[in-house]
Amino acid sequence: MELSITRPDDWHLHLRDGEILQAVVPHSSQHFGRAIVMPNLRPPITATAAAMTYRQSILKALPKDSDFNPLMTLYLTDTTSPNEIKLARESGVVYAVKLYPAGATTNSQDGVTDLFGKCLPVLEQMVQLKMPLLVHGEVTNPDVDVFDREKVFIDTVLSPLIQKFPQLKVVMEHITTKDAVDFVLSSDERFVAATVTPQHIVLNRNSLFQGGLQPHNYCLPVLKREIHRQAIASAVTSGSKRFFLGTDSAPHDRKNKECSCGCAGIYNSPVALSLYAKVFEEAGALDKLEAFASFNGPDFYGLPRNSSKIRLSKTPWTVPASYSYGLGDIVPMSAGQVLDWLPSPL
Ligand code: DOR
Ligand code: ZN
Repeated sequence: MELSITRPDDWHLHLRDGEILQAVVPHSSQHFGRAIVMPNLRPPITATAAAMTYRQSILKALPKDSDFNPLMTLYLTDTTSPNEIKLARESGVVYAVKLYPAGATTNSQDGVTDLFGKCLPVLEQMVQLKMPLLVHGEVTNPDVDVFDREKVFIDTVLSPLIQKFPQLKVVMEHITTKDAVDFVLSSDERFVAATVTPQHIVLNRNSLFQGGLQPHNYCLPVLKREIHRQAIASAVTSGSKRFFLGTDSAPHDRKNKECSCGCAGIYNSPVALSLYAKVFEEAGALDKLEAFASFNGPDFYGLPRNSSKIRLSKTPWTVPASYSYGLGDIVPMSAGQVLDWLPSPL
């Protein structure tokens, strides 16, 4: 069995910099035409000039002949100025602004502490310039149970935000709950959409503890109960245009995952398309995979769809146990497992 689909894009990707960037970028550029590149480096990409420099280093790390197009983002802080948004829009290389609540995840310490106070002028400018806000949707209050952080964020931040700015384009990134699915479905589809990762439709929270602690299945927002996984899988395989592919592939060196305080992040670029295809196949919805992977994202962002195609063939392949690079190695999602769908260029 074989499918040919328009080349997909990845609307949520961490490429890092330095040696890790070199190691991981070919896995994305092989399968995807474009990717929204997240700005949570150290230091974070808070200015357009830095985004342009970072983009050049990504282009340099690409395999020869690759036409992969990194779409850059800015990291929102309490001090981001409306003028920076204007510069970003004029640059032609920055496509969105990322909201990390301060302390929510990897390298988010410089994130936002006062969205409805200090960030108001920036949000107004974003509405004017139709600049999308990409949201890490979790509250950081330590009193809130870690499994409830997305729901509480929807109730206390996201709903008030879109009430205040109904014309702000918002992508709720890496949704993990039925609450998020319901929220997106109840919003105006021109302005609110969501990305969905492979892990949040393939795994539930049992995978964190299966046979012992599984650090390579740890990401943020953390995996949830099976009912949430099912709700997200049904939403994406239903064919709704509000959901699109965003891997949240987040490589960390093995040493920083397998240790006493492991980093959050799942490296899934090499397996993402195989896993999405598996979920659509199991739902009897392979005919809806192309829209999820290749149409809904560019349509929401107001960008053209890719013109080239890729092939997905039902050819079992074994995921490598790890990928080594200059400084160590990175363990991918589904390491050592046999997956059914193999993507290749057409
Ligand atoms: O698991 C995650 N890892 N979630 C995030 O939000 C950030 C990411 C990373 O950069 O490692
Ligand atoms: Zn992310």
